[in-house]
Amino acid sequence: MEKIILEKLKFYNQYHVIDHYKALTKDEKQNMMSYLKSFDIDLIFKIHKDFLNTKETSLKNISPASIVPLPETPEDIKNREMARKKGESLIQNNEVAVLIVAGGQGTRLGYDGPKGTLRISPVKQKTLFQLFVEQVIAISRRFSAKIPLIIMTSYENDEETKAFFKDNDFFGIGEENIYFFKQGMLPTLTPDGKLIIKERAQLAMNPDGHGGSLKALSKSGLLDKLLKDGYKVIFYCQVDNPLVKIADPVFLGYHNLTRSEVSTKVVRRRNVDEKVGVYLNINGKDAIIEYSDLDPTYMTALDEKGNILYWAGNTAIHIFSLPFVKRLNSHGYGLPYHCARKTTEIKTKDGSISSVDVWKFETFVFDTIPLAERAFAIEVKREEEFSPVKNMTGNDSPENAQKDMCTLFKRWLEAKGIRVMPGVKVEISPLYALDFQEFEMKFDKKNISITGNFYLE
Ligand code: UD1
Repeated sequence: MEKIILEKLKFYNQYHVIDHYKALTKDEKQNMMSYLKSFDIDLIFKIHKDFLNTKETSLKNISPASIVPLPETPEDIKNREMARKKGESLIQNNEVAVLIVAGGQGTRLGYDGPKGTLRISPVKQKTLFQLFVEQVIAISRRFSAKIPLIIMTSYENDEETKAFFKDNDFFGIGEENIYFFKQGMLPTLTPDGKLIIKERAQLAMNPDGHGGSLKALSKSGLLDKLLKDGYKVIFYCQVDNPLVKIADPVFLGYHNLTRSEVSTKVVRRRNVDEKVGVYLNINGKDAIIEYSDLDPTYMTALDEKGNILYWAGNTAIHIFSLPFVKRLNSHGYGLPYHCARKTTEIKTKDGSISSVDVWKFETFVFDTIPLAERAFAIEVKREEEFSPVKNMTGNDSPENAQKDMCTLFKRWLEAKGIRVMPGVKVEISPLYALDFQEFEMKFDKKNISITGNFYLE
């Protein structure tokens, strides 16, 4: 094996690695070999070559996708109710599992630790992970269902994430109902295609993107286990959105009734500069194109009324049919690679920290959409379902997400005639009510004013 790998490195002109390797101790060699064995050498250099050779090509035949808008007419409301009933029956029949992708490196947020451990809720300062777990517990109780909660970690944060759950007694969900698997890694290259030696006997690597989640789910054995246990769909979301409605029955119902293989929730883009992927149609197939990859002509296009023509922003909330995931698996997934060109700090072989230009390759989970026989998308209200935490300050910051949570709960209280004094923080646990309908049924206080921080569980 060692010989084959060194031969391959020669073939791809990686002499700096070979020379360095030869000078390592036995243990160090073993360590370096474990890095070299962990990825497909031919594939990584093929991807690099493809990026070197591709000229920017603009995408053609783009048109707005057909998306179920927010309900307006009695007919729309009736359809949503029908979908809700269907979705509820899927949950009841134990056909729904939940996957939260919590890998990635969270560099942009500048937070030291797995993103899911960020304290976010307005009054109790619950972490993102706790908020998600409480939702899963509440839905499982409501429908007497068994909903496996699956969390994708990365090599960097796997141990810390698992320890965090253990230390918090799995937030009451029961260790047996929660599963973890690690996402894959790919080597980071220099722009001219060289592997980067890190410290003495390591290679610089990066997570392979959330597109790797479905493959890693399969590799972990969990996909087959879910299928064997009778699960039909997986609800998918990112760890960064505290407003996500996990396993939303309406969404599940539409996915099923439209016989979709991948479904997506979208929100109206705030403006033409918002950094979200855009849900649209290319050559008759639904797709999401990341804002940075979409030609400005489309990003900024307006309709005849002056509204954003490609208005549908990707919330990264999806449902995947498990047989579809299985089918992708048998075709090796075949997702296209994207290349992030960055400058990053790396501890080099002589121990110094140095700033290096790098190319990181990754795949995106939404690139599965055009591979589906049928895809479906539905519009949801941003203020109810989407407030991702991406940056430490400003837009998409923890402070804004907390404000959005507060505003949502205030609205629930005010709809019941409760006065909430300005500046007061309010929080309603998913364990008390998962949605406004449940809150409305349970909350029986009248004519009160809330003057101090308020929490319901
Ligand atoms: C992402 C979407 C964007 C969407 C937005 C909604 C991409 C490329 N873009 O933007 O279309 O509008 O969310 O909030 O995804 N992750 C992993 N492993 C990885 C990479 C990412 O688990 O290897 C998870 C992270 O934990 C993170 C999330 O995916 O929470 C988002 O990934 P990121 O690459 O930061 O994309 P965004 O810019 O947030």
